[in-house]
Amino acid sequence: MREKRFAHDSYPTRGLTTYFPLPVSCILDRSRAIVALETMHKLIGLLAIALFFTPQPVWAAAEPVRTEGGMVVSANDIGSKVGADILKAGGNAMDATIATAFAMAVTHPTAGNIGGGGFLLFRAANGAADSYDFREKAPAKATADMFLTDGKYDPTKHHRGYLSVGVPGTVAGLHLAWKEHGSLKWEQLVEPAIKLARDGFPVSIDLASSLAGALKGMQPYPASVAQFSKNGAPYKAGEILKQPDLARTLERIAANGPAGFYEGETAELIEKEMASHGGLITRKDLKAYQAKSRKPVRGTYRGYEILSVPPPSSGGIGIIESLNLLEGYDLRAAGYGSAQSIHLIAEAMRRSFADRAQFIGDPDFNPKMPLETLLSKDHGSALRRTIDPIRASVSSPTNFTWPIESTETTHFSVVDSQRNAVSITYTLEWGYGSSIVVPGAGFLLNNEMGDFNAGTGLTTESGLIGTKPNLALPGKRMLSSMSPTILAKDGQLFMVTGSPGGRTIINTTLLTILYAVDFEMNAQEVVDAGRFHHQWLPDVIRYEDQQISPDTLAMLKAKGHQLKPISQQGSAQIIINEVATHTLAGGVDRRDADAFAATTQ
Ligand code: DON
Repeated sequence: MREKRFAHDSYPTRGLTTYFPLPVSCILDRSRAIVALETMHKLIGLLAIALFFTPQPVWAAAEPVRTEGGMVVSANDIGSKVGADILKAGGNAMDATIATAFAMAVTHPTAGNIGGGGFLLFRAANGAADSYDFREKAPAKATADMFLTDGKYDPTKHHRGYLSVGVPGTVAGLHLAWKEHGSLKWEQLVEPAIKLARDGFPVSIDLASSLAGALKGMQPYPASVAQFSKNGAPYKAGEILKQPDLARTLERIAANGPAGFYEGETAELIEKEMASHGGLITRKDLKAYQAKSRKPVRGTYRGYEILSVPPPSSGGIGIIESLNLLEGYDLRAAGYGSAQSIHLIAEAMRRSFADRAQFIGDPDFNPKMPLETLLSKDHGSALRRTIDPIRASVSSPTNFTWPIESTETTHFSVVDSQRNAVSITYTLEWGYGSSIVVPGAGFLLNNEMGDFNAGTGLTTESGLIGTKPNLALPGKRMLSSMSPTILAKDGQLFMVTGSPGGRTIINTTLLTILYAVDFEMNAQEVVDAGRFHHQWLPDVIRYEDQQISPDTLAMLKAKGHQLKPISQQGSAQIIINEVATHTLAGGVDRRDADAFAATTQ
């Protein structure tokens, strides 16, 4: 039985001064030093009392779902079961992934999709790995300043309406990954989704409430209202949702592969909808779309091999950068949930996000990105040297900040009985994407163009970015934070992880790795544990409310951090391979009410 450690167990018994020595900056200024010293002593007294009575957070013990066979863990119970059925029918992890992804395009319409895009990471049981980029692309008529009206940023164009739609990548990406690693027939993998769309499925409590919330945004789009309501009235839990147009589109995809989406009737329906509403996507854009197989990015962390996805996602690089930096600290000794461990992790996040803003975009348009440097241990050490273990850094006033993103992407993890593994995150960007259902085709279009920077030089205090690597250009992929990641140890699969959540994805995924490796939590404990996020600018740690104790928050404030509670961060559906017992352990993130681990046994 592993020992659970209270964070304050690791505090030195001789007192708290180890955590609050006199800041060096104060020594340089005598008058400030005296005031600071007095304040600090008062604070230490108060904190010591608080600490005596209030234990620091410890993660709650919880047992994961376990199996010796295969497993699919996703945010949607129907999707997970479809994947597990494919495993039972003799499919491998890739087959199950394709079937789950199509099923979730029907049963989890907020993020599951065929009208969006994403990233998939595959690791074969023998260690060979591939990643697939099916990120949406800007149409040929896109320009860097297409989101401006009279030279001014126009939010109605960036994240809303027809200009916000990128050329979808999901169908091409799933097909490419299946061609290279699938074993069952393509039609067999699309079939469960066709049935679910044609015959319908019972709406869950969570989906009913999500659809009711989404209806308002769908009002301008009659095909969306028709598909996701009963003549305008919201579905109630338990009622059957049928999507016949979507079933027919899926039938074309089953029969013709990507051509069933990017050509013929589906492409015509998309082009028609775009042309009649000022959208840019044409049949030519659709036919030209190609998913890409890219070399995964690799790193190591305390003896574990880290595999993740490369640009145009910034996720893999951000995670590996933070891990390289954090490897130099003993986080376990600092304690789970302690002010010291949160401080160090937040400082790592801050730095990796600064690099993200400066350097990363679509590699096909940014050939000179310093990826090797960003991924190097030397860079991690250099960044570590800039961290004051006592005081928060201040994000330098490079005059921009980022808006908060919602969490409407979806991640799922699949491992088969041979221990082939898939980690996949895909999205429509916002919940229900652009809210636009293509009339006659029955699927939602993304609003991923909003992930491009807003316009040339348009970098403002209020939240816009105009840096060059991520400006819209014809055929370019917008920068992403999606971070499907896989860890291995001694050549064997260890963990499959990832999350939704816009920019928080990178840090949620990072935390799942730290919780599993540094704190040796099991899969369920990893996903249950508290999350927080720092993204350089705005200069604030956002943390899950109630997951950090008030005395720890006070200590973080004393270090100079700004703090902001949020209700939840991400939804990490993970699998850990417990090698010693030949068991897979699924961590179901219950922040998503319909999340489920389906097994083959
Ligand atoms: O690619 C990305 O990083 C985002 N479009 C993912 C979107 C997401 O997680 C939900 N929030 N907007």
